[in-house]
Amino acid sequence: MAEATLDMRGVPRPAAYAELDAHLDTVLEGIHDRVAVMATMSAVLHHGFGFLWTGFYQVLVPGHLLVVGPYQGTLGCLTIEFGRGVCGQAAATQRTVVVPNVRNFPGHIVCDARSKSEIVVPVFDERHALVAMLDIDADSVRAFGDEDAAGLEKLVGRFARREQHA
Ligand code: SME
Repeated sequence: MAEATLDMRGVPRPAAYAELDAHLDTVLEGIHDRVAVMATMSAVLHHGFGFLWTGFYQVLVPGHLLVVGPYQGTLGCLTIEFGRGVCGQAAATQRTVVVPNVRNFPGHIVCDARSKSEIVVPVFDERHALVAMLDIDADSVRAFGDEDAAGLEKLVGRFARREQHA
């Protein structure tokens, strides 16, 4: 069993994401199950940075509906339609969405009133099909920026490697 969860608070984001990526390589060695990878990534990110909510919405009906997957945090919404909220917009456009202040995002879906900012990153499989969204909420405004988008996009790139499967 690998070492305990790393604390990345206070570490510059690019270095933090690089270290967590390497940590995940170690922890997930020999693991090919997509849900196991999502659960482990949620735990490592959530406790590594002290986020408010960290988890995945999986594509249930392509182009139409997301359903909650492995996550860390308080109770999340169970389903989200493509186009609705931050997750739905990121799913519909297949692009990362950074929301510095959720109050200024029309249609933001409130799952936890403490959430102030959010980032949602699309997850693709090895066939470049959209399979999930990585959704992270923070309890402060402007918690996420370009470095987070880049770091998280690289992290979820492991789902596009051939060895992962549902
Ligand atoms: N706020 C999200 C919904 C999911 S929860 O944050 C866990 C949204 O607007 O998509």
